[in-house]
Amino acid sequence: MPSTAHEGLIELRSDNCAGVAPQVLAAITAANEGSALAYGGDRWSEELREVVAEAFGSPDAQVFPVASGTAANSLALSAMVPPWGSVLCHQTSHIYVNECGATSLFGGGAVMRGLPGDDFKLSPQSIRDAFATTNFGDPHHSQPSVVSFTCPTDFGTVYTAAELQAVIDVAAERGLKAHLDGARLANAIASLHCSPTAITRDVGLAAFSLGAIKNGAMSTDAIVSLDPDTSEQLLYRTKRAGHVASKMRFQSAQLIAYLTDGLWVKLAKQANAAMAELARGVTALGLELVAEPQANIAFVRIDEVAWRAWAASGVQFYDIDAGTIRLVTSWQTTPDDVTEALTRLERVLTAR
Ligand SMILES: Cc1ncc(COP(=O)(O)O)c(C=O)c1O
Repeated sequence: MPSTAHEGLIELRSDNCAGVAPQVLAAITAANEGSALAYGGDRWSEELREVVAEAFGSPDAQVFPVASGTAANSLALSAMVPPWGSVLCHQTSHIYVNECGATSLFGGGAVMRGLPGDDFKLSPQSIRDAFATTNFGDPHHSQPSVVSFTCPTDFGTVYTAAELQAVIDVAAERGLKAHLDGARLANAIASLHCSPTAITRDVGLAAFSLGAIKNGAMSTDAIVSLDPDTSEQLLYRTKRAGHVASKMRFQSAQLIAYLTDGLWVKLAKQANAAMAELARGVTALGLELVAEPQANIAFVRIDEVAWRAWAASGVQFYDIDAGTIRLVTSWQTTPDDVTEALTRLERVLTAR
């Protein structure tokens, strides 16, 4: 198995730093034969529609390859929210904190409302409280139109299908549609040991991102839409935003390989297993986790002297603030990487 370890460096900064899965690279090479119709008129893009429909048990599912997770989220949401609407999401969610207002841009001024919720998740109460502080029908206020989940959350916790359903049921009382930022969807599926449909179609999502880039793809994410109205809008919105690639066959080939024979979930299992081992080791060495990691992300409380020394030993991660660091594993993180990272941490903590 390829490793992230390179010249003594161990990669725990982000799953975006990982390479491309060999199966995905091989699929790109295989698609590089002869010519093919542009803008999704090729046979790979046609096959991708069938593969996605099958994977998510939805014959009418439509898939829109786009260049990034941000594009997938903001374009999907823009198709679901009117310009006077609001997207309800957790206050730590990527769409709210890290996408520079992309949803508001593509949504014609639609706003996002970041809501509190334990374990970095929305709860039915989060939505009820948001409703209670909304003047419905009052043109002076944005009107809640969509609830958006991030699963796994940006802090590595995972909603169960029942948790998603409970929130969606409350949101549906006011006619909100449901969206999921699936930047790490495969990690959530692997963590829950569930089918792809269990946390998508079965809970009533209208649209979600597939999230392939962090987990072995090279250069594509995709929006999956299960809602005909959203799909119709996305046909035009993706083009207007410059996300209909002329050589879409290479995106589609990546995504077919990603979804074939469960590769996406296998890769995510590797990332999750590496994180479970890393988290076990970190806590065994006496450090505290901000939340129990259920996928491939963990935040760890550690004093600055120790994290600086650990970083100096060649273990790469992000420091979030003076007392917290973020560790992320990927499909490429090997058991040896984890053992070596922990050995270096133990050395640092003992030398303090
Ligand atoms: C939870 C989540 N959603 C969306 C994104 C956006 O993906 P991209 O960087 O491809 O735009 C990221 C990227 O780190 C993410 O962590």
